Amino acid sequence: MFARLSMLYPACVIAQAPTDTERRTISAAAPAQLQSKYAASSLAAFLATRPRVALGTLPTPLEACPRLSAAAGIAERTPLYAKRDDLTGFALGGNKVRMLEYLLGEAIAEGADCLMTGADAQSNQCRAVAAAAAKLGLGCTLVVNAGLHPEMQGNLLLQHLYGADVRMVQVGDLLEVQRVLDGVEQELRAQGRRPYRITGQYVELALKAMVGYMGGALELAAQMDGLPEQPASVVLCAGSGTTYAGFACGLKALGITTRVTGISIITPAAQVAERVLALSRLAAETYGLDCALSPDEIDIRDGHIGPGYGHVSEEGLAATTLAARTEGMLLDPVYTSKTMAGLLALARGGALSAGPSVFVHTGGIPGVFAYHRELAAGIGAA
Ligand SMILES: Cc1ncc(COP(=O)(O)O)c(C=O)c1O
Repeated sequence: MFARLSMLYPACVIAQAPTDTERRTISAAAPAQLQSKYAASSLAAFLATRPRVALGTLPTPLEACPRLSAAAGIAERTPLYAKRDDLTGFALGGNKVRMLEYLLGEAIAEGADCLMTGADAQSNQCRAVAAAAAKLGLGCTLVVNAGLHPEMQGNLLLQHLYGADVRMVQVGDLLEVQRVLDGVEQELRAQGRRPYRITGQYVELALKAMVGYMGGALELAAQMDGLPEQPASVVLCAGSGTTYAGFACGLKALGITTRVTGISIITPAAQVAERVLALSRLAAETYGLDCALSPDEIDIRDGHIGPGYGHVSEEGLAATTLAARTEGMLLDPVYTSKTMAGLLALARGGALSAGPSVFVHTGGIPGVFAYHRELAAGIGAA
């Protein structure tokens, strides 16, 4: 049973009889710049039906990056803009905030009293989940694999600061983390708790999480309308592909044909593209939106993982220093530095369509502190 709170984008629907904590988190009205032609779209209408908890400071800015574009030698053909989702605000921002707004809308509607998730110790998702649990007055258990940076820094430090029950394990892969979480879930249920698990079956979870980035696409579409020249490309990080799927499906549902290019930073691009294709079809079917992508509309690129997922790359370091020293914009070592490196390589090689290019900054800023040694060495400051 849901109560409609606002007809404006981004409209919010929350579980009825919210607690004081929930009430605090409901956004009251749409920002003025989003009262655009897209506000009446079927996508906006769909988003208004979804349970949502407002966490982020939205809309995030869309900023021109003239000094970065000039220094990178791409100002003439593909001048750069940054959609600053590192500034989603909550818990140091990033792409997890938009996704959690919808996942936690469901968690509250289902009456969950605690959250659980797991990944690497430096997981941005674990940090954002811990903070959201604190804000909503829910319990939080995290299972984190020690991984490359188990020291008490960056995201791991914040998970503890936000008060999560952090259980560190040393396992070979993230499937093992899921098995440990199975045990934690049983333990919590045996105690009479009602956990909401933000892991598990990829497609099931991603289908819900991608809704956050359909909202991101709606927001960007309205902002793009205000630019002197329409962007010819959008470039973003493709890890699992959930953010990409949400964005590309959102734009497709709005009838916007701007090409979305993903830079793969974990697995081969073909694997991500396959997931995005499946997700887009499922989203179209489940949500009744005209958002199914065809294979030729999905553009995920290889070549920028560097020495491996979680390992700093030379070109990522170069992109990080360039962005920091031209725009004062921080990139993280694991996701956005490699994505910016990919964007710059594509733009310099003429592989992006001529016209402005939008870099979607997906955040990950606490990684700067966990990777301080690699970064300091990379800039000769060690
Ligand atoms: C900062 C940051 N950017 C990008 C991504 C990739 O997002 P997705 O898995 O939706 O492709 C992640 C995922 O953890 C992230 O933390």
